Amino acid sequence: MNFDQQLLASSKTRTACPIVPVSKANLGKNIKSLSPSGRQWSKANGFQAKPGEILVVPDVDGKPDMVLFGTGADDLDPFLAGKLSQTLPAGRYRLSNEFEQLEAMTLAFLLGGYGFDRYKTMVASKAILLCPEQVDRTDIIRIAQAVKLTRDLINTPANDMGPQELQDATYALAKRYKVKPRAIKGAALEKGFPMIHAVGRASSRPPRLLDFSWGNSGHPKVTLVGKGVVFDTGGLDIKPSNGMILMKKDMGGAANVLGLAQMIMDAKLPVRLRVLIPAVENSVGSDAFRPSDVLKSRKGLTVEVGNTDAEGRLVLADALALADDEKPELLIDMATLTGAARVALGPDLPPFYVDDDDIAADITECGTRACDPLWRMPYWRGYEAMLASKIADTNSIGGGGFGGSITAALFLNKFVEKATHHIHFDIYGWTPTAKPGKPYGGEAQGIRALYRFLSQRYQK
Ligand code: BES
Ligand code: MN
Ligand code: ZN
Repeated sequence: MNFDQQLLASSKTRTACPIVPVSKANLGKNIKSLSPSGRQWSKANGFQAKPGEILVVPDVDGKPDMVLFGTGADDLDPFLAGKLSQTLPAGRYRLSNEFEQLEAMTLAFLLGGYGFDRYKTMVASKAILLCPEQVDRTDIIRIAQAVKLTRDLINTPANDMGPQELQDATYALAKRYKVKPRAIKGAALEKGFPMIHAVGRASSRPPRLLDFSWGNSGHPKVTLVGKGVVFDTGGLDIKPSNGMILMKKDMGGAANVLGLAQMIMDAKLPVRLRVLIPAVENSVGSDAFRPSDVLKSRKGLTVEVGNTDAEGRLVLADALALADDEKPELLIDMATLTGAARVALGPDLPPFYVDDDDIAADITECGTRACDPLWRMPYWRGYEAMLASKIADTNSIGGGGFGGSITAALFLNKFVEKATHHIHFDIYGWTPTAKPGKPYGGEAQGIRALYRFLSQRYQK
């Protein structure tokens, strides 16, 4: 069942089983208002109105008559509705108008039904929701489809998601929206994109830089750059097995950028969009770049490689330098860039960096409203000194183990000069422990917030 079938256009003539909120405070009253058998049923099942607790109350024929949805004692987390699509038996349902955040609940319902079924069949959700009348159905489906694209790309292991396959996905998206993508590949990168080449050259699957533009060239320029490291072994500074096991997700920045681009194009936002993805595999091989190598970047800055496991910032730097040439109004990059970001904020709260306070406040607010939380961190110039190199213009890492997400952001920012605003997202791209609406595995982070932010900044 696709989202179009799972979320029916609302219509007064359609019958559907109501899902009603039951708070701890109203538990007694709500239960009393049920039919005698319903009252017994809820007692027998020990329904307590805990947040997200679901009880299907049957009619005399045993068919779902109503669904009680616990809202607890405090404000309801609307993503708890993600449990509904997995729990409810086949049938048609509608959310009661008494719920406060119908939009987020509807989205969570769709996102909670996600399963990555490329390699085995998953138990598909059979519950169908009538779209609440207040909710923009087209927009919710657009967002759900973008999240699915992002999750699918991240969940696909590197043997089926190499630089070529990431290119195929990028090309498929560009072509769907009638624009011509291009790729610079292998040895052709050596001259113009030396750091993308250096990081990707040890793999038998050649590196490339993917590039497409969409939209009216007179509209404000928004450029998205996504880290597309299809697998990160760490290179010669090889990762231990527990650090490598999840590294198929190191193209999470690219996957998120593609999801966001799909929403922007589908909604026809009045922007001139550009998408740039350095797609590489950070492999171990006799031709691998080495710690202490000095690379000459596209921008001209010489970069001493402090650690070959800090590969993301190298490939992004060359892509950012290209993006910067056309002076975009917003230059946004997304990357699974540092373990330090996860140490600081955990897997669910990605840090982002931007110099402009108003933009930072808007993005934070959009994140809250979209249930896509983000936390601003500083481009703290005082730490720039940590990037000093004795023999090159800059080192690639801060060293010393201090402020690793900040020094990585500062490194990237060296390659951006002309863009009006550079916004950097250090995402995790993964849900390690399933939560309602967020199944285990690849995750979209920041793009629902950004879609909201861009939609309101560039209203038609
Ligand atoms: N892809 C990793 C960062 C990462 C690791 C993100 C685990 C999410 C989970 C990145 O390429 C990396 O290895 N970064 C190093 C940088 C260090 C060598 C300066 C890190 O964070 O340890
Ligand atoms: Mn790495
Ligand atoms: Zn990496």
